[in-house]
Amino acid sequence: MKIVLIGFMGAGKSVVAKALGDQLNFPVLEMDELACQKNQVESMYALFAKGGELLLRETEIEIAKSYRSEANLVISTGGGVVMNKIILDYLKENLGKVFFLNAGFDLILQRLAEDDSRPLFKNLAQAKALYDFRLPLYERYADEAISVDGKSVEDIVEEMVSVLNHTV
Ligand code: S3P
Repeated sequence: MKIVLIGFMGAGKSVVAKALGDQLNFPVLEMDELACQKNQVESMYALFAKGGELLLRETEIEIAKSYRSEANLVISTGGGVVMNKIILDYLKENLGKVFFLNAGFDLILQRLAEDDSRPLFKNLAQAKALYDFRLPLYERYADEAISVDGKSVEDIVEEMVSVLNHTV
């Protein structure tokens, strides 16, 4: 099975994906990292400088397509994958199960306040507008939503494993 983590920037997708991959003994695909590698850049800022958000979105489609038939893999997506339905369609192929890590905006803010690695999280009002716009998209594409506020990574992984054990 392919386990796909979606959610807003700062929701903890990468950390949870790594812990879940360790627990299930599945490899982890970091879509942001692969997107940078594919475009031969060192950072998301460099990727945006090269081709803007459009280049990221196109690369995400390419990556999702190339992993559509993979199994036994945990995929940590970038927060914007829900902007293109085709990405989720590819990721859901071959028994892909999509978990939405749902973090309240206050938690996101707390985590990203000192972090300047994200081109789309620079201006607070814009970030909040993006969060509000995307929330229903994450909910729509998710097979399962996991609320992460106040939970440790271990709590979250345990909850996910329990869901997986009850659905497979
Ligand atoms: C983005 C989220 C980032 C990264 C890029 C754009 C977004 O990933 O893909 O900066 O549009 O929400 P994370 O969610 O891993 O921060």
